[in-house]
Amino acid sequence: MTVSETHRSIAHRTVAELGGRTSILARQRADHERLDRLMARARATEAAGGRPHAQALRAVARLVFTHAFAEEAVLFPAARRALPEGDPLTLRIETDHQEVDELVTRLDRSSAEDPGRSALLERTFAVLDEDVRTEEDELLPRLQQELGPRRLRMLGWQWELVRRISPTRAHPVVSRRPPGQTLSALPLTVLDRSRDRLQQLDEVTGGVAEKALSRLDRALAAGAGTVERLPPMRRGERPETGR
Ligand SMILES: [Fe+2]
Ligand SMILES: [Fe+2]
Repeated sequence: MTVSETHRSIAHRTVAELGGRTSILARQRADHERLDRLMARARATEAAGGRPHAQALRAVARLVFTHAFAEEAVLFPAARRALPEGDPLTLRIETDHQEVDELVTRLDRSSAEDPGRSALLERTFAVLDEDVRTEEDELLPRLQQELGPRRLRMLGWQWELVRRISPTRAHPVVSRRPPGQTLSALPLTVLDRSRDRLQQLDEVTGGVAEKALSRLDRALAAGAGTVERLPPMRRGERPETGR
């Protein structure tokens, strides 16, 4: 296979061509397709004049933040080691991730009736589309050129493992690169996933303990804010993605 044949988008290639289901390429594409379906549903609700349900948006956020966190912890450091252009290429994607973090933070703070909310949501989805394109059309095909199938499968397993224990919410202040990114993982994962449990509890109890739960949720969110601002969590940050 020539270089020009291999250096093409992974979007329409077969799973076998991507190195099997467990390869980082196939895992990434499967997640991107899931994201696409969730966003299409939310966009359809908007187009019909409705407001996407908070639960649907939480599902998008959870998918996006665990996915991106594991990319920054596992995939991008590997890309920087393997590709001569790895640093500027991953920085470009990290800048998109940073924008998504900031947009979702603004969305979380806005109310459902906020007139600017729709535009904010559409911009978030547009950056996510862009992120997927850069990864599927540029980063991942280049990685396939440089790394063998075994290494791509190994990266796939590492990425999957980290994704399962990653923070689930926007954290625009912490570093997008190790070591700060790695250090922040454990405390933010515990805090985010506790907040997710509270939210589930609130849905199950039909809002009976809403006040107490929202007080707890605010305390956990404040804890995450404190963790984010600890100086070690910002180590490794590039000025382009700093806040
Ligand atoms: Fe991705
Ligand atoms: Fe990404």
